[in-house]
Amino acid sequence: METKQKRVLSLIQPSGIPTLGNYLGALKNWSDIADEYECAFGVADLHAITVRQDPQKFRKQVSDMYALLLALDLKPEKNILFVQSQVPTHAQMGWILDCYTQFGEMSRMTQFKDKSKQHADNVNVGLFSYPALMAGDILLYQADYVPVGADQKQHLEICRDIANRFNGLYGDVFTIPEPLIRDTGARIMSLTDPTKKMSKSDPNPKSYVSIFDEPNVIAKKIRSAVTDSEACVRYAEGKDGVNNLMSIYSCVTGLTNEQIEAEFAGKGYGDFKNAVADAVIASLEPLQAEFKRVSSDRAYLEQCMKEGAEKAMYVSSKTLNKAMKKIGFYQFKK
Ligand code: TYM
Repeated sequence: METKQKRVLSLIQPSGIPTLGNYLGALKNWSDIADEYECAFGVADLHAITVRQDPQKFRKQVSDMYALLLALDLKPEKNILFVQSQVPTHAQMGWILDCYTQFGEMSRMTQFKDKSKQHADNVNVGLFSYPALMAGDILLYQADYVPVGADQKQHLEICRDIANRFNGLYGDVFTIPEPLIRDTGARIMSLTDPTKKMSKSDPNPKSYVSIFDEPNVIAKKIRSAVTDSEACVRYAEGKDGVNNLMSIYSCVTGLTNEQIEAEFAGKGYGDFKNAVADAVIASLEPLQAEFKRVSSDRAYLEQCMKEGAEKAMYVSSKTLNKAMKKIGFYQFKK
């Protein structure tokens, strides 16, 4: 008997140019599995307005992020590539799931605690209920797997809890999703403070490599990355800076830590950093070129966006209708 193809879903916020962390923790994995599964990938613009956005910049960030999905060769003809706000079922499902989520469990989300410190002047209700909207994104597509970086693990856990609670009340409405978090690259750290996650919202641009940085900028940032005084390339506790560069190198070359240690035995950090920089540049260059090509073809981009929204609407409406029927919303007889 032929088994049903597993479904994968993941989204990324259009809140600035993605970093090497986004690329290695999520986007690269998306393109690695785009052929193998039935996938839905999206631009999470509804999530992005939990912090203030400049309207003009925001519009561009959304279309650039969508162009990046196309540049990653995520197969728009086979998979669903969509912009979240163009698929109204997401906001509807988000509200429904808000009503099946407890205030106490939402209060435990570490991202909410961190972000409300970062944006103390705008601790809005959307920032708080963010994980319910995210749960809706996932459950609407009956996703089996959700490829994300380690920072999203807690959000996946609450999504599973919400889905189990809903299924417990109404029967099997939602597939319970599994996170797909890789061992290497799941948490790429800041280059200037390797105890902190690499983040596009970090005010210090030296702390992250943006995926659109020019080769000389990438080389400069990696060469000045914080390491330690041991001058020995090995993966070990307490060597956060070197461990981080080894993870980056491992993700882009496919080498294991043992192979990396052997390659740089007896060599200093200078040689190692140059090799990491060269490998990162080689990995990003084709993507940068393809992004330039796709983002200049507005007609193609908008056509894919429209078709993506239609496909997303078709699949997600089925789940939304099913959930609404179970709850008891009045529905017209066909
Ligand atoms: P976002 O936009 O912050 O990040 C997008 C993806 O990049 C991963 N990531 C990292 N991975 C490794 N190292 C890092 N330093 C690093 N920084 C970011 C994130 O884990 C994520 O996979 N809430 C999500 C967006 C979202 C979503 C969803 C994800 C909305 N709905 C449904 C999955 C399923 C977010 O803010 O990701």
